[in-house]
Amino acid sequence: MRGIILSGGSGTRLAPLTTITSKQLLPVYNRPMIYYPLNTLIAAGIKEILIIVAPERAGDYLNLLGSGKKFGCKFTYEIQDKPAGLSEAFIIGENFIDEEDVIMILGDNIFEDDLSAEIKNFKSGGKIFAKQVPDPERFGVVEFDANKKAISIEEKPAKPKSNYCVTGLYIYDNRIVEVAKSLKPSRRGEIEITDANNWYLQKGELQVAMVNGEWIDAGTFDSLLKAQNLAKEKLADKLII
Ligand code: TTP
Repeated sequence: MRGIILSGGSGTRLAPLTTITSKQLLPVYNRPMIYYPLNTLIAAGIKEILIIVAPERAGDYLNLLGSGKKFGCKFTYEIQDKPAGLSEAFIIGENFIDEEDVIMILGDNIFEDDLSAEIKNFKSGGKIFAKQVPDPERFGVVEFDANKKAISIEEKPAKPKSNYCVTGLYIYDNRIVEVAKSLKPSRRGEIEITDANNWYLQKGELQVAMVNGEWIDAGTFDSLLKAQNLAKEKLADKLII
């Protein structure tokens, strides 16, 4: 399985911090933010990792992470010219993914759990990771039936059908490349990961795993502060990088 860290975007909600650097390079306690999602992949044994970055910041990523050798990995870099949506990662990453399955994690997502077992037991189709949150309308929202089977996923719904949101970790078989290419941009002009997830869901091939520990999307001042505290209290000694 190949890995992708999607680390572009504009980080406007964290301005002016992001005026001089990329959001995912900001400090989260004693490490740059991207170390946390990188750790999630490396702990699961993923060694070939594509890092997708915005053009203005590419040099900073190379300086920080380099070839990947110091982490026992091989890193590849690609530029995303504009933040055109999460699904674009699989189009940009087509050659890198080649014939393999692929796991993608967002560069600003921090998971307390070790998800290695859930990652390693992926077989085919798609697998996403859900978490109960107080503000589901900010995310993709999964609706379950009485048997805990996922029946719908909606992107940022005004009236969420549950409080389970889709976190920034996604695993797909190789069909994701063609699925991503077939998606039309949404009203906000992005090719949405929710549409890719619905493609697998409609085929009955989307698995939804639960995240038990804390999960933080560190894209706002308050969530960045929460991430700093989580890192200090619970993650600093556990990370392997
Ligand atoms: P967001 O937090 O939704 O967007 P952003 O990082 O540009 O921040 P803001 O809304 O404050 O301007 O993106 C979630 C993650 O996905 C984040 O790590 C950036 C990344 N991303 C890309 O790399 N490319 C994209 O096209 C999009 C939409 C997001």
